[in-house]
Amino acid sequence: MIDDSTRKTIVFFLLQLVFSLFCIEEVHAEFKKPLNDEIVIPYFMDLIKSHGRAAEWHNVTTEDGFILTVFRLLPNSSDCHQKKRVLFLQHGLAGAADFFIIYGPTQSLAYTLSDAGYDVWLGNFRGNTYSKRHHNFLQDDARFWNFSLDDLALLDLPAMIDYVLKATGQTNLTYVAHSSGCTAVLMLLSDRPEYNQKINLNVMLAPIVFWKFKNPAVSFYTLPFRWVKRILPSAAVQFVPRTMFVRPALDKVCFRSSVPFDVCWSLVDMIAGKDHEQINREIIMKFLDYYPAGTSLKIFYHYIQHIDSGKLRHYDYESRERNVRRYGRAEPPDYNLRKITTQSVIFHALNDPLSTTKDTAVLIAELSNSSMIYEEIRNRKFNHIDFIIAKDAKKFLLDPLVRILRKVHGPQC
Ligand SMILES: *[C@@H]1O[C@H](CO)[C@@H](O)[C@H](O)[C@H]1NC(C)=O
Ligand SMILES: *[C@@H]1O[C@H](CO)[C@@H](O)[C@H](O)[C@H]1NC(C)=O
Ligand SMILES: *[C@@H]1O[C@H](CO)[C@@H](O)[C@H](O)[C@H]1NC(C)=O
Ligand SMILES: *[C@@H]1O[C@H](CO)[C@@H](O)[C@H](O)[C@H]1NC(C)=O
Ligand SMILES: *[C@@H]1O[C@H](CO)[C@@H](O)[C@H](O)[C@H]1NC(C)=O
Repeated sequence: MIDDSTRKTIVFFLLQLVFSLFCIEEVHAEFKKPLNDEIVIPYFMDLIKSHGRAAEWHNVTTEDGFILTVFRLLPNSSDCHQKKRVLFLQHGLAGAADFFIIYGPTQSLAYTLSDAGYDVWLGNFRGNTYSKRHHNFLQDDARFWNFSLDDLALLDLPAMIDYVLKATGQTNLTYVAHSSGCTAVLMLLSDRPEYNQKINLNVMLAPIVFWKFKNPAVSFYTLPFRWVKRILPSAAVQFVPRTMFVRPALDKVCFRSSVPFDVCWSLVDMIAGKDHEQINREIIMKFLDYYPAGTSLKIFYHYIQHIDSGKLRHYDYESRERNVRRYGRAEPPDYNLRKITTQSVIFHALNDPLSTTKDTAVLIAELSNSSMIYEEIRNRKFNHIDFIIAKDAKKFLLDPLVRILRKVHGPQC
């Protein structure tokens, strides 16, 4: 007899195989292009324009020389004459700022928050489409890709947040993030207490922080990375850049072949939760225009360390000597979430295998020094990527979020 998990494993391997076959061609074609042919089209700015809105492009340099792009969405109306509260939006794993606008003016998070009266800024972590520049290294340099979650949290976020506060003349801002944007801010708030004053409210959508419970989705998801880790232990490599294989392969397999959508999409369903009601080809393809936007393999290794240890900790160099050199101790230090005093908001979806109800409860317990607003999405099927691409995002996410912001900050003009 084949049990359910064996069957899932078989499906997983078959899908991997199919994808690899479709990908070889694409990857081959991609590698033939010269490196500086990398996409530099300001997709974000074009997209904003196509929505009848305007934005500013800001360049922010980190302490270690990366040049990050931060966008500022300009308000649609100029009726408000008082200084607006600043709201900073941060994308998740291998994502980019585009995700907060791809659904257009009435459905997207960035526009909704701008129309709710906030001065909306959007961050881009090092390594993504808009943050692939460094003062000393080119993109083909291993030193460029040698970054973990610690670097996003302790170098990128402070640079972007301080830049935005200075540019707006404000003392604090509201932080809103999806998925690993939440991991990063919690690391920052734990390690650098002054950011508890600079961030007045920390809104987390589907935070991925603790992995204390055995989770089959996560085992599937991490398996290929465990293989890769054996071959490439150094990790200072780029994780598949945008368009390199995911989009063309998915389009071919899911929409231009006789493979039924349920089968084709089963890998994503396993990782992110099954909810076909909220998606269609158009939004999937739009999403894949921007995903993955680029990050380092080391980020994935860092998550695997968290999954294996069940702890939120600094990057483990997996060598006593190197840990001692870096941290002055054999084991990497844990991030202590009890030090966080910034008020938190958590949006949790019940059908999210990456941010499960049990692990979210652990997170809430760890944030014992932060006053907490917990909001469960009122749709039992809502999953991890619905936070970005759900058809009914307005009803299930945007309206409740604006209601909570009004409750905390009062109405904005
Ligand atoms: C901007 O505001 C005007 C007036 O409220 C509205 O008609 C229009 O649809 C808005 N445009 C966008 C792109 O949100
Ligand atoms: C930001 O960097 C880009 C690319 O290097 C450049 O074209 C642009 O002028 C810079 N913007 C500002 C405001 O410095
Ligand atoms: C945070 O910023 C707002 C304006 O955006 C200001 O009214 C408020 O006093 C600030 N809070 C603190 C604690 O500085
Ligand atoms: C990456 O950073 C670590 C720690 O700073 C260092 O030991 C290692 O040599 C670096 N690797 C590369 C390829 O730069
Ligand atoms: C909780 O926050 C207060 C105020 O910042 C601090 O004094 C206290 O040590 C914190 N508690 C823990 C367990 O860190």
